[in-house]
Amino acid sequence: MVGTPDTADVLVVGTGIAGCAAALAAARQEADVLVLTKASRPEDASTDWAQGGISTTRGEPATLKTDILEASDGTADPDAIDTLVEHADRAVEDVLLETLEIEFDETDGGEFDYTREAAHSDSRILHVDAATGTHILRPFLAHLDTLETVDIREDTAALELLTHEGRVHGVLTDASETGQPVFAGTTVLATGGIGSLYTRSTNPPGATGDGIAMAGLAGAEVDDLEYVQFHPTAYAGDGTARSSDESTSDRAPTFLLSEALRGEGAVLRNADGERFMPDVHPDGELAPRDVVARAVARERARTGEVVLDVSPLDFETAFPDLAEKCRERGIEGDEIPVAPCEHFLCGGIAVDENGRTTLDRLYAVGECARTGVHGANRLASTSLLEGLVWGLRAGEHAASLEVDPKPIEAPDLRNSDPELPPGFAAEKFTRLQQTMDDALGLERDPDEVARAGAVFRRLKGEVDAYRRTRTSRDLYELRNACVTALLVARAAAKNPDSSGCHHVVDGARDTVAGQVR
Ligand code: SIN
Repeated sequence: MVGTPDTADVLVVGTGIAGCAAALAAARQEADVLVLTKASRPEDASTDWAQGGISTTRGEPATLKTDILEASDGTADPDAIDTLVEHADRAVEDVLLETLEIEFDETDGGEFDYTREAAHSDSRILHVDAATGTHILRPFLAHLDTLETVDIREDTAALELLTHEGRVHGVLTDASETGQPVFAGTTVLATGGIGSLYTRSTNPPGATGDGIAMAGLAGAEVDDLEYVQFHPTAYAGDGTARSSDESTSDRAPTFLLSEALRGEGAVLRNADGERFMPDVHPDGELAPRDVVARAVARERARTGEVVLDVSPLDFETAFPDLAEKCRERGIEGDEIPVAPCEHFLCGGIAVDENGRTTLDRLYAVGECARTGVHGANRLASTSLLEGLVWGLRAGEHAASLEVDPKPIEAPDLRNSDPELPPGFAAEKFTRLQQTMDDALGLERDPDEVARAGAVFRRLKGEVDAYRRTRTSRDLYELRNACVTALLVARAAAKNPDSSGCHHVVDGARDTVAGQVR
């Protein structure tokens, strides 16, 4: 049954830093804000898993701009970077320091303990241990809870955008068996990345590309989707992005070994104990992330293993959370086996400097959005910052339109036959992930990319046959994953040029793509 539809002035989908910032900014404009998350706990967002920190400019916006541009292989949008660096320090001060009173790590002298990560020319990253995301997100959500005009609703998945004549009026959710509409004056997508489209990722399991698929299907422009960033140093042990059953909650993930470790002196060694990065790039272990990721994969393929040697630093004292994670996995000593794994999508739903998409009254912020800041390769610790800056801008802009929610006719998804075969979604998901790993990993062979596109089209066709008759969240996540995978494959197929995260190899190749599994 369809219940009474919910309404909101501003609807935010997603509870990471970008969604929280949008909700805060809209509430500051006195809008009624509804925030939805499909997770059973609002803190189950990628932000909570972010380790290294949040970059500031430390009063040097031009230098941060140069580093972002260089890391992006010169492909980032200079105007978008200007927006970021111009608003960075004020956003951090206003929201993180003054409103949320986050206690970032300090030196013994009581100054901020700014750290450094790969491709940064300066130490300018604020952090709390290597668990910065958790220390930002939990107080952020707690603060939003205190605001009367903000309602956060968990366990509610957005399934479709509700559109009429090219204008977005909210979303259809799975809050009832036949689909429950939420009508909104403006809608902000903050649904995160696509980690669950790969077998190994540093993202939480809900990262199935929902916002990108919904926006793409509604006709919004998407851009730069071929630029999928792989982090060079994820724990190389077992870890799947989704469990083999239909549940999204139980899995044994790999975990990130923050770039801050290399920033503080950790080095990479192959199975022969040799440091290889100094021969690959003048910046060694602090070379841009895509360069390090490919080098790690190659050395793993060539010698069998790569470890992160943390002996140059006081690992236990400087990174207690990571040391604990290592102990939990039975990793002893100073050498932690690492492999690249999916980490961040640099592209996404195309937005302007206020987070506006190409669809009227639809905004996108955070990892699902493509602001142009990252180009082909993102500089470390700019994702929380981008989410914060664009979240604030989009929330403020969306609320300033002062549009009343307008109910429109919403699809009534009949939960009827055909029955979903047991294990259907899990099995298709596995096929999708393996195809992404093989064709759209660290290196891309155009023939394999084309084959992958065909696989995703077939999978989407199989899913659509069931999706028209039921609201199953697994099915919609799978549909979204298929659509987003297809968009990634199309973007990769259209771009013959290697740049940053998109590394094109020829036919008979010495590929390292399998190394991301
Ligand atoms: C890390 O801590 O290495 C990740 C930081 C980032 O991806 O920005």
